Amino acid sequence: MKNIVILISGGGSNMAAIVKAARRDNWQDRFGARVAAVISNRASAGGLIFAAENGLATEVLDHKVFDSREAFDAALAGIIDRFDEPAQPVLVVLAGFMRILTPGFVNRYAGRLLNIHPSLLPAFPGLHTHQRALDAGCQVAGATVHQVTAELDYGPILAQAVVPVLPGDSANTLAARVLTQEHRIYPQAIAGLLGP
Ligand code: GAR
Repeated sequence: MKNIVILISGGGSNMAAIVKAARRDNWQDRFGARVAAVISNRASAGGLIFAAENGLATEVLDHKVFDSREAFDAALAGIIDRFDEPAQPVLVVLAGFMRILTPGFVNRYAGRLLNIHPSLLPAFPGLHTHQRALDAGCQVAGATVHQVTAELDYGPILAQAVVPVLPGDSANTLAARVLTQEHRIYPQAIAGLLGP
C-alpha cells in the first residue's frame, strides 16, 4: 500500500478535498494508495478535527519547541518515515503547510514531495499572493501544484488552474475563488502521479 502523508498548518480544506477524492475515486483499489496520516505543526489547526473524524492518524509537531529548522525537519521526517515502505515510498503532500523546509528534508523526499501554492507560479512565490496579484493589476489569478525543490515555491509544475480577477475583488474574495480550484486540481494532480 502506498501511503500518502499530508502536512497542514490550518483549516486543511485541501487536505479534506484530497481525502474525499481518495474515497470517492477509490484510490485504494485503483492505485493501491491511501491517505495514511495528517501531520500539523499547529495543535489548533482546524484540519486535525476533520482528519480524526475521518479515521486518519493525526500528529502534532510544534515547530516552536525546536531550536532549529534542521531539528524540526528531522523530527518531522521521523514521523513521516513510519509510513514509508521500501517498495512503496511514501508520498508527502504539503497542503497549506506554512513552514520553510530545509534542503536536507526536501532532498530526502525528492520526487515525492508536492505542494500547492495560491498563485500562478512562477508569479508571486511567498506570502500574500492574492493581495499582490490585485496590487499588480492582474486580470487572472490561480493556483499551482508543483514538485518541491530546495527553492521556495519553485519546482516542476504538475497542474495549474486559472480564475478571473473580477471588479471589486478583495484578497478574500479572490482567495475563495482560487481555493475552489485548488480543491479540484490538487487531488487530480496526485491521482495523476499515482497511476494512469
Ligand atoms: C491554500 O490556499 C494553499 O494554497 C495555501 O494556504 C491555503 C491553505 O488552505 N498555501 C500556501 O500559501 C503555501 N505557501 P487549507 O488549509 O484550507 O488547505
